[in-house]
Amino acid sequence: MAVSLGLEDVFIKYTGLTYIDGNAGILRYRGYDVNDLVKNCSFEEVAYLMTYGELPNKEQLSKFEDELKSSYKLPDHVLSLISELPEESDTLTMMETAFASLSSGDYKWDKDNDKKQVAKILGEDLGIISNIYRHKTGKKLQNPDPKYGYAEAFLRNCLGDNVNEKKIGAMNSALIIYVDHEVPASTTAALVASSTLSDMYSCITAAIAALKGPLHGGAAEAAYKQLLQIKTTDNVEPWFNKNILEDKKRLMGFGHRVYRTYDPRMKIFKGIAKDMITDNEQKKLLDIAEKLEDLGVKTFGSKGIYPNTDYYSGIVFNEIGFPITMFTTLFGFSRVLGWLAHITEYVEDEERLIRPRAIYTGPEERAFIKIDKR
Ligand code: CMC
Repeated sequence: MAVSLGLEDVFIKYTGLTYIDGNAGILRYRGYDVNDLVKNCSFEEVAYLMTYGELPNKEQLSKFEDELKSSYKLPDHVLSLISELPEESDTLTMMETAFASLSSGDYKWDKDNDKKQVAKILGEDLGIISNIYRHKTGKKLQNPDPKYGYAEAFLRNCLGDNVNEKKIGAMNSALIIYVDHEVPASTTAALVASSTLSDMYSCITAAIAALKGPLHGGAAEAAYKQLLQIKTTDNVEPWFNKNILEDKKRLMGFGHRVYRTYDPRMKIFKGIAKDMITDNEQKKLLDIAEKLEDLGVKTFGSKGIYPNTDYYSGIVFNEIGFPITMFTTLFGFSRVLGWLAHITEYVEDEERLIRPRAIYTGPEERAFIKIDKR
């Protein structure tokens, strides 16, 4: 009997959703390369693809968009719950609270209804995350405007009129890039919860808890802070020598359990960052990031450690208008779709309670000693 620490190389389900070739740096959703989807699709089209298995035609898309829009409006209790949390609360904690509060606890899984439920939750997701941002920035909470598509409605509810085509395009791309990545820690947490036939909202809450950590979703924030700490391009090498080589800290935004080469999502984010940036401070951070990337790849490339999706995403999110405190939550905003797609696939196709074992390494049987004799 052997334990696979970190469940490395353990396969926990069959999936028709996401294919990763970690050596070639390929990522496909339902057979479509992520680059093609980012270039050509709206988030709604990808959401339909993940939910129904095929890209929609115009009529199917329009119906699906209407379904999403009809649940942009949140129940009143969710808005008041978010507004009652301290403004300084962590944004993922706000997300957990909002999703947990939507759980009725008695959801009955059912193939046709599940898909409708997915659309409903995606609409609510937009309302929740945009209002978390509004609360964090001291704005009065409000429901998103159903006149707009997903990325635009989200940005308008967060940033008001400070929105343009470039920002909407970048947000749409980021949403698609983060949709799914097979079974990382958060998706596995959602699957464990779904295997008990828990309801969808509760499964999402479990996933958010796993997403929080710096080794998973928190990496974008850590990678961006790293760039801020370095401050100048001249300081890249001294910082790297001291922190990474001498003190053996991890280079954040580098390394991946599956990729042994460049993460294809990182390349897309890098392209968007280069295309978008106008601000001098951001340009400086991008220069630092590129120099640090070269050094990181030179040092760790031979071990298969390359930049991952979170390396440049913070620069893009910041350029759109979001502060560091929102980065992981923006990842979660999109990943709700992947979590829902995986749990639905699991429950509908192969549901079995996930209940692994642990190898006992504690003491042999011992005689009990009463407290006054110990
Ligand atoms: N910087 C320096 N060394 C590293 C790094 C890194 N970023 N990542 C891995 N290593 C080294 C590690 O020290 C170890 O070396 P040795 O064999 O000499 O002890 C070796 O590589 C294997 O590391 P591991 O932690 O066993 O590998 P893993 O597959 O569990 O690691 C990881 C995956 C993502 C946790 C890790 O690469 C890491 O901590 N990266 C930094 C955090 C990060 O960027 N996370 C985002 C992941 S992608 C987005 C997501 O999925 O959420």
